[in-house]
Amino acid sequence: MGAGILGIGKYIPERVLTNFDLEKMMDTSDEWIKTRTGIEERRIADDNTDTSDMAYYAAKEAIKNAGITAKDIDLILVATVTPDQPFPSVSCMLQDRLGANHVPAMDISAACSGFMYGMITAKQFIDTKTYTNILIVGVEKLSKITDWKDRSTAVLFGDAAAAAVMGPVGDDKGILSFELGSDGSGGKYLYQEGSKLVMNGREVFKFAVRQMGESAVRVVEKAGLEKEDIDYLIPHQANIRIMEASRQRLDIPEEKLVKTVHKYGNTSASSIPLALADNVENGKIKDGDVLVLVGFGGGLTWGAVALRW
Ligand code: ACO
Repeated sequence: MGAGILGIGKYIPERVLTNFDLEKMMDTSDEWIKTRTGIEERRIADDNTDTSDMAYYAAKEAIKNAGITAKDIDLILVATVTPDQPFPSVSCMLQDRLGANHVPAMDISAACSGFMYGMITAKQFIDTKTYTNILIVGVEKLSKITDWKDRSTAVLFGDAAAAAVMGPVGDDKGILSFELGSDGSGGKYLYQEGSKLVMNGREVFKFAVRQMGESAVRVVEKAGLEKEDIDYLIPHQANIRIMEASRQRLDIPEEKLVKTVHKYGNTSASSIPLALADNVENGKIKDGDVLVLVGFGGGLTWGAVALRW
């Protein structure tokens, strides 16, 4: 028996903020943003939509697509660094709003690697047959902590949620291998101070290029796969240049790199499941495909998974 994804869902706010809109707000240009990051536009949630609202919408869709009801969920995990408030957790708010049973619920704080941490936590409970259906949500309302006066970070982020129900799948399916890690000495490169996000972009860039490449290669090796076996690489959608570097490190063709960064920007914990949900919905990712998911984020943290869909 493997541990895999039974259903997936997403929520993206309606409001689109383009690079051209940003040109009117700060000293930047569409050209700079596009060439440095690959981002063309991002979504921004309205004032009445908080993190838990977005989590709820995505979770509802994932539960429906998994063919279960909220009452069938055994554990709720929410990966976020932008909760409505420090406590109660978004996962507890979700338990109530979904009408789930009084099951355990906890938030995971691993920034952009949060969904990878959630998946691997879920896998342990599924492998040990402790729980059957586990809801994992990656959700961020980054616009709440964006410093709109800092052009070097404000252009990068967006709001979104994506969710998955994980559970037992066939032996040859689900998670084939994984890697998780952290290096707290790099915490100084990406953190929240007061109510604002602060980042040393160059240091994060260097770390991301090295770590994403190495982790992706290691999960492929651990799963006993060859590079030809990989159907799609889904890296954390932070910056096209970082994503491209991990594709080159895996030495796979360009068309195997899944990209949503141009339309959503960096949505932190929701970025990987959102890219997954988009490409499952549009039929690109098909039953039996081998996927490599790899993320990095504040902490510093990282995580990677090789998975058969
Ligand atoms: N518009 C125009 N000019 C800008 C902007 C902007 N939005 N932002 C910065 N600049 C300027 C800088 O001031 C600098 O000017 P200077 O040379 O006169 O000082 C110049 O552009 C070049 O800046 P660099 O920092 O060298 O640009 P770089 O090529 O490193 O790109 C970027 C910056 C895009 C932020 C890059 O470093 C990066 O992507 N880093 C990784 C960030 C990341 O992925 N973070 C997510 C972490 S995940 C999480 O946990 C949230």
